[in-house]
Amino acid sequence: MQNLDKTMIDKLIGTAIEQLKFSYAPYSNFKVGAALLAKNGEIYTGCNIENAAYTPTNCAERTAFFKAVSEGIKEFDVICIVGGKGGVLTEYAAPCGVCRQVMMEFCNPETFKIVLAVDKEHYDIYTLKELLPLGFGPMNLA
Ligand code: THU
Repeated sequence: MQNLDKTMIDKLIGTAIEQLKFSYAPYSNFKVGAALLAKNGEIYTGCNIENAAYTPTNCAERTAFFKAVSEGIKEFDVICIVGGKGGVLTEYAAPCGVCRQVMMEFCNPETFKIVLAVDKEHYDIYTLKELLPLGFGPMNLA
């Protein structure tokens, strides 16, 4: 378990904000960045990637998860998410239901943390269980 102290929170928020410049959002203009901290200490980044056919759009959170899992990393402690219209951060960008379900696949809902931030001074931390109560996950099929 990586230590989620203020230094780490700042790093994750800063890293998520940096990803906004990579956001490909020509249709919604809603830019999202994510920084996913794996249990091994590595940070996997993500941005949203839209598509002219709309439904292939991938959220920033899933981009980060899929980058990590595609490299064999499947254990995570924290994700930080930032987003806003035109990349301007004024309120929290909470993860969509599909992204919460992807988190449920790889993360312990009791301990996995989701940091929603506007900047390094304005953020809140939730567990996955708080954002996805009674989630359906791998344990249900065990
Ligand atoms: N988006 C994310 O990247 N993460 C979320 O959890 C919410 C929505 C993106 C998808 C789309 O590119 C844009 O925000 C507007 O829905």
